[in-house]
Amino acid sequence: MRRILNTALWASLAASATAATVDDCPGYTLSNLVQSQSSWTADLSLSGDACNVYGEDINDLKLLVEYQTDSRLHVKIYDAQEQVYQIPKSTLSPPTGQDGSSTSNSSDLVFSYTENPFSFAVQRRSNQETLFNSSGSNLIFESQYVRLRTSLPLDPFLYGLGEDSDSFVRETNNYTRTLWNIGIGMLPAHSNLYGSHPIYIEMRNGTAHGVFLFNSNGMDIKINQTEEDGQYLEYNTIGGVLDFYFLAGPSPADVSRQYAGVVGTPAQQSYWTYGFHQCKYGYQDVMMVADVVYNYSQAQIPLETMWTDIDYMDLRRTWTLDPQRFPLHKMQELVSYLHDHQQHYIVMVDPPVSLNDSDSYNKALSSDSFLRNSNGSIFVGTMWPGAVSYIDWYHPNAEAFWTGEIASFFDAKDGLDVDGIWIDMNDPQNFCDYPCQNPVQSAIDNDIPPAPPAVRTTWPPLPGFPADLQPPASDASENVVTPRSPYPRSISATSANVTGNMTGLAGRNLNTPPYALNNSIGPLYTGSIWPDLVGYGGYVSYDTHNIFASGMIAHTREGLLKRRPNERPFIITRSTFAGDGRKTGHWTGDNGSEWAQYLISIWQNMEFASIFQIPTVGADVCGFNLNTTEHLCARWAMLGAWYPFYRNHAGDTSNFQEFYRWPLVTEAAQKAIRTRFALIDYFYTAFTQQTVDGSPTTIIPLFYEYPNDVATYNISYQFFFGPSVLVSPVTVENSTSVELYLPEDIFYDYWTGQQVNGTGSTITLDNITYTDIPVHIRGGSVLPRRLNTDAVNTTTQLRDQDFEFVIAPDADGKATGNLFLDDGLSLDSESSTLSVSFDNGHLAVTGSFAYSVDVKVVSATVLGQGNGTSSYGESYSLNRTLNAAWSTDLYGH
Ligand SMILES: *[C@@H]1O[C@H](CO)[C@@H](O)[C@H](O)[C@H]1NC(C)=O
Ligand SMILES: *[C@@H]1O[C@H](CO)[C@@H](O)[C@H](O)[C@H]1NC(C)=O
Ligand SMILES: *[C@@H]1O[C@H](CO)[C@@H](O)[C@H](O)[C@H]1NC(C)=O
Ligand SMILES: *[C@@H]1O[C@H](CO)[C@@H](O)[C@H](O)[C@H]1NC(C)=O
Ligand SMILES: *[C@@H]1O[C@H](CO)[C@@H](O)[C@H](O)[C@H]1NC(C)=O
Ligand SMILES: *[C@@H]1O[C@H](CO)[C@@H](O)[C@H](O)[C@H]1NC(C)=O
Ligand SMILES: *[C@@H]1O[C@H](CO)[C@@H](O)[C@H](O)[C@H]1NC(C)=O
Ligand SMILES: *[C@@H]1O[C@H](CO)[C@@H](O)[C@H](O)[C@H]1NC(C)=O
Ligand SMILES: *[C@@H]1O[C@H](CO)[C@@H](O)[C@H](O)[C@H]1NC(C)=O
Repeated sequence: MRRILNTALWASLAASATAATVDDCPGYTLSNLVQSQSSWTADLSLSGDACNVYGEDINDLKLLVEYQTDSRLHVKIYDAQEQVYQIPKSTLSPPTGQDGSSTSNSSDLVFSYTENPFSFAVQRRSNQETLFNSSGSNLIFESQYVRLRTSLPLDPFLYGLGEDSDSFVRETNNYTRTLWNIGIGMLPAHSNLYGSHPIYIEMRNGTAHGVFLFNSNGMDIKINQTEEDGQYLEYNTIGGVLDFYFLAGPSPADVSRQYAGVVGTPAQQSYWTYGFHQCKYGYQDVMMVADVVYNYSQAQIPLETMWTDIDYMDLRRTWTLDPQRFPLHKMQELVSYLHDHQQHYIVMVDPPVSLNDSDSYNKALSSDSFLRNSNGSIFVGTMWPGAVSYIDWYHPNAEAFWTGEIASFFDAKDGLDVDGIWIDMNDPQNFCDYPCQNPVQSAIDNDIPPAPPAVRTTWPPLPGFPADLQPPASDASENVVTPRSPYPRSISATSANVTGNMTGLAGRNLNTPPYALNNSIGPLYTGSIWPDLVGYGGYVSYDTHNIFASGMIAHTREGLLKRRPNERPFIITRSTFAGDGRKTGHWTGDNGSEWAQYLISIWQNMEFASIFQIPTVGADVCGFNLNTTEHLCARWAMLGAWYPFYRNHAGDTSNFQEFYRWPLVTEAAQKAIRTRFALIDYFYTAFTQQTVDGSPTTIIPLFYEYPNDVATYNISYQFFFGPSVLVSPVTVENSTSVELYLPEDIFYDYWTGQQVNGTGSTITLDNITYTDIPVHIRGGSVLPRRLNTDAVNTTTQLRDQDFEFVIAPDADGKATGNLFLDDGLSLDSESSTLSVSFDNGHLAVTGSFAYSVDVKVVSATVLGQGNGTSSYGESYSLNRTLNAAWSTDLYGH
C-alpha cells in the first residue's frame, strides 16, 4: 500500500533528519585483538557516521580486558588519544595488571564480545549465567556523553549506587539514579545527594556479584523495563571513560572484600570514637558548650565527645575564633577540661577561604592553589562567611597550605587542641547563583554572614568547671581579626592545554552540557562552583566535581597526622566518593527530625558500611532539621547506639535536643549508651577485620548473612551489628510493637537471654517501650562483653573493666567468637587477637597475645540454660587472663 505523508509529517521528519538521536548512533567495530592468557587489548572504531548527539563521537577507542584475579575482571574502554578525563591516580588508583596466576581459563568471570556492532558480556563460569551483557544497545562514546547498557533479569535485586534516600533495594522500573554531589537538606527522595558511589551489588538466587564503574563524572544510571528492551541498567555519563571492575562474589561478603581490593580497606578508628558524641548548630558561646558538657555529666549520660559547628568561627571564617563568644583561652580551658576528664573535642571546618581573612587568603594565594575561572582569574563565590575562593585540592601546593592551617589553628599549645576534624560543605556548596557577577554584594544582599548572637553580659556559674571559665570581662579584643581588603590581586592563568594526559577534552560545553544530567536542583552549576573552573594541570570541575571532597579528605588526614603522627586521624565528612573510607568516616548529612528519616538512616548505614566500604557512618540522632519530639528522640537514641558513629546533632533553628532534656530520653540514652559500651570491644573487633580485608562486619544487611534466604533481600530496617547481633528497631511511628523477620536459625533475646528459634518468618514483639529495642544474639556466637558499664563515664574508664563471655550456642551446642585488643589509639599499636570457642561446656581461648592487658574474663554466661524465663542463662565464674591461651570445662560434656 502506498503511504501518503501529509506535510506536517514531512516537516517533522525533516527536522529529525538534522537532529540525530541516540538511536542513530552507529556503535563501534572491534579489530586488532591481541590476546594473552590474562589480558586482551583491541581497537574499537566508530562503525558509521558520527551521530554527535551530545558532543562529538570519538572515532577511535581502545579496549583493555584484564583477568586480574580469579574473581576480579577489569574491562576498560577509553579514547585512543588518552585525552578524555580519567580520575587522577593520586585520588584513587585501582589495581591494574594481574596477580600473576589468573587467566581467562581459570577466572570465574568469562569475558566475551561481539565484533560489530561491538558489545561485550560477562558470564559466571561455574553456572554459565550471564551477569552483564551490553548487546541490547550500541555503545556511545562522545565528548560529553558515554552510554552503556546491560540487560538484566526481570526485577533484579540491586543494591548500592548511592548516595540517596530512595530505598535499600533499588527500584527496577522507570528509575534514575543521578550521581552528582550536592549539598541538600532533608535527604529528599529521587534526588542526588552528597556523595557518589558507582558500585552495585546484585543478588541472584543466593549468589552475589558486583559491578564498579570507576568514573567520577556526573552520571544518570537508568534502571528500567520496557516491552522492546526488557529489563536493563544503563550508564549515561557526561564524561570520563568506561572503567569497569566486575567482582565475582559468590557471596555478598566476598563482593565487599573484592571491592575493597579495588578501592581499599577502611581506616581503623580509635576506640574512643565509639563513645557518644553531642553537637548542635547554635551553641552561641563557649559557656553554652561547657554547659552542655556539665549537664550531661549531671544527668549521668556518658558523653565522650563534644562538638562545635560553625558557631565558633569569627564571622564564620574558617581558621578563626569568635573573640567574644569563643575566645581562645576559654576554648583552651574547655578543651583542657574535656581532656582531663578523658573526653574529646571536635569542630567543623569548611573548605572555602574567606576573602575577608587576609591571613589565610594570602597564604592560599601565594601557594597558587585556588580554583580559577576559565579566563584565569580566581573564582569567587559565597559561603558562610560571605565572598570566598575555593582550594584546588589537586594542586601540588594545596597540601602544604591546608596542613599548615591545620597545624597552626589546631596547635596543641597555642591553638585549639582538637581530637578530630569534621568537614562539611565539600560537595562543594556555593550560595551565589550563576553567574554570580558580584559575590561581595550578593553576600551583603543576602545577609551573609548574619550578625552573630548578642554577647552575654552575665554567664551563669558552672559547678565542676574551672573558676576562670567565666565571662570574658576584659578580653573582648582578644583575637580580633583585623579587617581585610576584600579584593585579592589577580594572578594570570596557568595554561589549560589538555592533550594526551587524561586531563579532559578541550572544547566542551562545561557549564550547560548538551546531555542535561538529572541533577535534582537544576543545571550543574546550581548551588555549587562552576563546572568550567580550572585546576592545576588543566583539570576542570566538570570532571573532578565528585572528587572535590576526596582531595579535602586526603589533605585533612595529612594535617591530622602531622599534629599527632602516630594517632589514627578521625575525620567525619559530608561528601564522599568511592574509596574515601580509607581515610574518613561519614555522617549522612542534614536529615530531619521525622520518623521517615529515622528509617532511612537504617539502610543508609548498611549501604555505607557494607557496600561502599565507609563503615564509620551514622545519621544525626534525633534529627538535624525541624524540631524533634520526646518520643522520636527516645527511639532514635535507642537506634543510634547501634550506629558506628553515634552523635546527637540539631540545626540552628531547631530546639535543643540533648538527651537530658526529657526524662524518658535520658533513660533511653543511659540504657543505650551503657549497652553500647558493653559491646564496644565486640564491635571494635569486627570493625578491625574490615580494615584488614574489607569483610563487611559492622552494619550488615540480613542478606549478607543469609544469602540463600530470598526473604532477606527486601529487608531494609533490620541489620546485624557485627556478625552476631541482630538489631530490629521499631519501624512504625508511635507504635510499641515490632514486626521482625527471623531467619531460620537459633537466636537469643539479648535482654532476657531467652532462646528464640527463627523459622524464616515474621514475628511480632509487643510492649517495646520507648527505652527498649529488640536485639537478638545469633546462635553459634561468643560475645566478649565489658562489665560494670554503669560505673563508667567514658571509654577510657571502660577499658579498665573486666569482661564476661556471653555464649550463645548453636543447635550443636557450639559457639565461636573473637576479641581484638590493642591500645585503641596509635597507628602502630601492638595487638592481640583472641579466638574463643565453646563446645558443649568446654571453653577455649587461643590466639596471639602481643598486647598485654590487666583486665580479665571473670565469667562466662551460657544462654539457653537455666529455666529460660527468669534467668539470663547460666553463669560460670572464671578468673582468666587475656594474655595467654587457656581452656576450661564449664560443665561436663
Ligand atoms: C517515569 O517517571 C517519571 C517521573 O519520575 C514520570 O513522570 C513518568 O510518567 C514515568 N513514566 C512511566 C512510563 O512510568
Ligand atoms: C523507561 O522506559 C519507558 C518506556 O520506554 C520510558 O517512557 C521511560 O522514560 C523510561 N524511564 C527511564 C528512567 O529511563
Ligand atoms: C532464581 O530467581 C528467580 C527470581 O529472581 C526465579 O524466577 C528463578 O526461578 C530462580 N531460579 C532458581 C534456579 O532458583
Ligand atoms: C595544546 O593542544 C594543541 C591542540 O591539541 C596542541 O597542538 C599543542 O601542541 C598543545 N600545546 C602544548 C603546550 O602542549
Ligand atoms: C597535561 O598536559 C598539558 C599540556 O601538555 C599540561 O599543561 C598539563 O599540565 C598536563 N596536566 C597534567 C596533570 O599532567
Ligand atoms: C521549633 O520550635 C520552636 C518553639 O518551640 C519554634 O520557635 C521554632 O521555630 C521551631 N523550629 C522549627 C525548625 O520548626
Ligand atoms: C504520633 O503521635 C504524635 C503525638 O501524639 C502525633 O502528632 C502524630 O501524628 C502521631 N503519628 C502517627 C503516624 O500516628
Ligand atoms: C528451639 O529448637 C531447639 C532444637 O534446635 C529445641 O530444643 C528448643 O526446645 C526450641 N526452643 C523453643 C523455644 O522453641
Ligand atoms: C511492658 O514492659 C514493662 C517493662 O519493660 C512492664 O513494666 C510492663 O508491665 C509491660 N506491660 C505489658 C502490658 O506487658
